[in-house]
Parts: sequence; C-alpha cells; structure tokens
Amino acid sequence: MNARPVGYSRTTFTELMIPAYANFGGKIHGGIILSLMDKVAYACAAKHAGTYVVTVSVEGVNFLQPVEVGELVSLHASVNYVGRSSMVVGIKVTAENIRTGEQKHTNTSYFTMVAKDDTTGKPIEVPKLLLETPEDARRFLESMKRRELKNAYKDDFDNEKVRLKLHESMELLHTERCEVGYEMD
Ligand SMILES: CC(C)(COP(=O)(O)OP(=O)(O)OC[C@H]1O[C@@H](n2cnc3c(N)ncnc32)[C@H](O)[C@@H]1OP(=O)(O)O)[C@@H](O)C(=O)NCCC(=O)NCCS
Repeated sequence: MNARPVGYSRTTFTELMIPAYANFGGKIHGGIILSLMDKVAYACAAKHAGTYVVTVSVEGVNFLQPVEVGELVSLHASVNYVGRSSMVVGIKVTAENIRTGEQKHTNTSYFTMVAKDDTTGKPIEVPKLLLETPEDARRFLESMKRRELKNAYKDDFDNEKVRLKLHESMELLHTERCEVGYEMD
C-alpha cells in the first residue's frame, strides 16, 4: 500500500450557524459543534483509509469561546498520525463574524478513528502517512507523545483507583463543596 500524503485527505467543512442551533442562552449548542467535528473527522479519516471508519476516542475538546448565531464556522481537519488501523485526526475550529470578517479560534481537538473491513467488521490496516513538510512531521511526533502520555495517565489513574480506600479518603471531602448525606459505618 502506497503512503498517502497528509494533503490527500485534508478536509474543511464550513457551516452557517442558524438560530435552530442555539441553546437557551442564545449561543450555539456545544453538541452542534461536536457533531460537525465528528463528521469532518469521519470524512478526513475515511478518505485517508479508503474504507469505512469509526470514532474511537476524542481528546482536547475545550470550548474556548462561545459561537454566536450568524457566525460562519469552519472545521479544518487533517490526519496527524497513523498507526496500523487507527488514525488521529486533528481538527481546528474557527468562527467568523460574516459582517466584520473577524475570526476566532474556538477549539482544537483530536479524534482517533479506526478503519474497519466492510465484510468482517474488524480493524484493517491503513496506508502510511507521507509527511511532506516539517509541520506534518511535528504533528505526527506530537501525536506520538500525546498517545504515550495518555497511556501513562491511564495506568496511573487505574493504580490510584485500586489504591483508593473510601474510609481513609473521606476527610479530603471536608474542604470540597459537597455534603455527605448517608450514614457512614
Ligand atoms: C475501537 C475498536 C475498533 C477496537 O477494536 P479491537 O478489536 O479491540 O481492535 P484493536 O485492539 O486491534 O484496536 C484497533 C486500533 O484501535 C486503537 N484503539 C483501541 N481503543 C482505543 C482508544 N481508546 N483510544 C485510542 N485508540 C484506540 C488501537 O490502538 C488499535 O490501533 P492500531 O491498529 O493503529 O494499533 C472497537 O472497540 C470498536 O469497534 N468500538 C466501537 C467504535 C464505534 O462504534 N464508534 C462509534 C461510536 S457510536
């Protein structure tokens, strides 16, 4: 299988934020943006893989600024990293005030997508990624680091959960904004 350049699958969606997308506070629902992110991640990863793909994990979803009704939202997606069957798609979301042309960066997130075989439904190998620029290489290396740190964090947290003794830890709650509403034995 020939390596595919990052540019082969780079994908951009642009959508006008209509009033039907607003929450009770008049801003755009976070779920609308998440749904668009999932779609652009699908399109980008499916293009690289040339197969059906599924979303496996989402990282770095922080809404840095609200999106307003009437703004033009653009989602810029590219494959940052490729494993055997998995691909990390980086998505940068910007919102533009159409009247003034002012742009704001609302978030950057990373979707891990896995390619599936149409008949068996099992993960299937995807083409390697051809890194054509130093920026492509930087993103690939950053993804490797992010994956390594995520795995280390998961191991640490799993160990902490095993070590957590409820009785011994209850005093940590004294300075928190909660009340214990059950009888402790
Ligand atoms: C993710 C899934 C494909 C893993 O299947 P599996 O049989 O365990 O396969 P593997 O262990 O070989 O994992 C396949 C790849 O997914 C990656 N992966 C699995 N879980 C992951 C996670 N939580 N985060 C990141 N990558 C993950 C593996 O590292 C592997 O990558 P690689 O092939 O590049 O090395 C399977 O659990 C699945 O289909 N999940 C449901 C996905 C879905 O339906 N999404 C839509 C949600 S509505």
